[in-house]
Amino acid sequence: MNQRADREQPQAATAESWLGHRLEVRVEAIAHGGHCVARHEGRVIFVRHALPGETVVAEVTEDRGGSFCRADAVEIRTAAPDRVRQPCPYARPGGCGGCDFQHVSLPGQRALKAVVVAEQLSRLAGLRRAVTVQPLDDGDGLGWRRRVRFAVGPGGELGLRAHRSHHVVPLTHCPIGAAGVGDAGALQAEWPGLAELEVAVDDRGEVVELAHRQRPARHRQGDRRRGDRRRATRPVLSTEQLSGPPALRYSVAGRLFTVHPAGFWQTHPRAAEVFTETVLRAAEPRPGERVLDLYAGSGLFTAALAAAVTATGRVVGLESEADAVTDAGHNLADQPWAAVRRAAVSAESIAAAAVELAGPGQPRGVSIVVLDPPRSGAGREVLGAVMAAEPRIIVYVACDPAALARDVRFAMDAGWRLDELSAFDAFPMTHHVECVAVLRPGGPAGTPAG
Ligand SMILES: C[S@@+](CC[C@H](N)C(=O)[O-])C[C@H]1O[C@@H](n2cnc3c(N)ncnc32)[C@H](O)[C@@H]1O
Repeated sequence: MNQRADREQPQAATAESWLGHRLEVRVEAIAHGGHCVARHEGRVIFVRHALPGETVVAEVTEDRGGSFCRADAVEIRTAAPDRVRQPCPYARPGGCGGCDFQHVSLPGQRALKAVVVAEQLSRLAGLRRAVTVQPLDDGDGLGWRRRVRFAVGPGGELGLRAHRSHHVVPLTHCPIGAAGVGDAGALQAEWPGLAELEVAVDDRGEVVELAHRQRPARHRQGDRRRGDRRRATRPVLSTEQLSGPPALRYSVAGRLFTVHPAGFWQTHPRAAEVFTETVLRAAEPRPGERVLDLYAGSGLFTAALAAAVTATGRVVGLESEADAVTDAGHNLADQPWAAVRRAAVSAESIAAAAVELAGPGQPRGVSIVVLDPPRSGAGREVLGAVMAAEPRIIVYVACDPAALARDVRFAMDAGWRLDELSAFDAFPMTHHVECVAVLRPGGPAGTPAG
């Protein structure tokens, strides 16, 4: 619902902006993005801090005209059963924009995310499917986030940005941050001159601090000369490690991984292990099989897949970040039949990896493709190349259900089917949800949405 409205161009300006208006509304369904849908005088209002079924007073926070505007629930007239007192003092209308669901019980948050995943699959893939979002642990939804990039306010104070705003809400702590991150000593200091300060912690409790500064203008001009308009208009940051060890270390099922301080690693402490188990259970890799691991990072899935296919098989990962590829080289040193290559995932790099997997003079033959793309998803070209490699199964790890549903549609159009879908509450208190989808060739194209 929200996305359709988001895509619509604002109509000719409405007679009067509703910005700042307070409207009593009945809250309808949850929508993708952490807000609920309400309606008033024929327009859609996306209301944050609300729950389906509630009656609230919504204060309009953004109105660009057209079919929809945005609002915060500032008074709750009739509360839904899942409403709780938010554990974070900064999560409130006009406050920190980092969490969307602090006012919802954990089971309620999972139920909302399940509705969103099912709705995206229905609307974008045309599939009707019951979805359950599983917790990763039995915790209280706090203290899990092992990497946070804090914004720096005008006086040098650390905080997080308000929703859809550059305004920095100063924080003394972040309740969803893991020990060492949410209570980082850096939060008590001022950081004039920095754009952002990033804090991350590893399994040993070692903490790194990274300073991000605006790069001098002459570098930004260089970006402009190269014709990259997007990079030239976005702030370009340089990064410097201020403290902590030269590498972070994580352990998954007894295997140690090294990750450079700014590198990607699953942020919830249980996520790496649960996602790896889910990928292996779905793919059932057998000794001798050949596997492609796209968007491989520092080799988390590559290593597990390599152990399963044994030295008679092969695993090739593709990853664009140079430091992650270096980390993967260390992490896979004892599995010489597995490697992560530095490449942007594309039809060409997938075809080249398929040739490498086959070995010299051998026919192509990729048994399994695992992909774990960024939020934007893989897209038609990449999925097309994956399917052209003719694996027996594709396991798609997705952090955005809308991008996943769109990519599932592309696969279905090419004669594949969505066979299984698992969803995990890897980001409690936020609207984010991680899905693992299993695609197989042939068969009926799923249960069409009615
Ligand atoms: C969600 S992370 C997954 C990493 C790994 N599977 C893991 O779980 O640790 C996505 C990875 O894709 C990489 N990436 C993003 N866009 C890419 C592209 N176009 N080509 C190759 N790698 C890309 C990022 O650097 C990042 O390491």
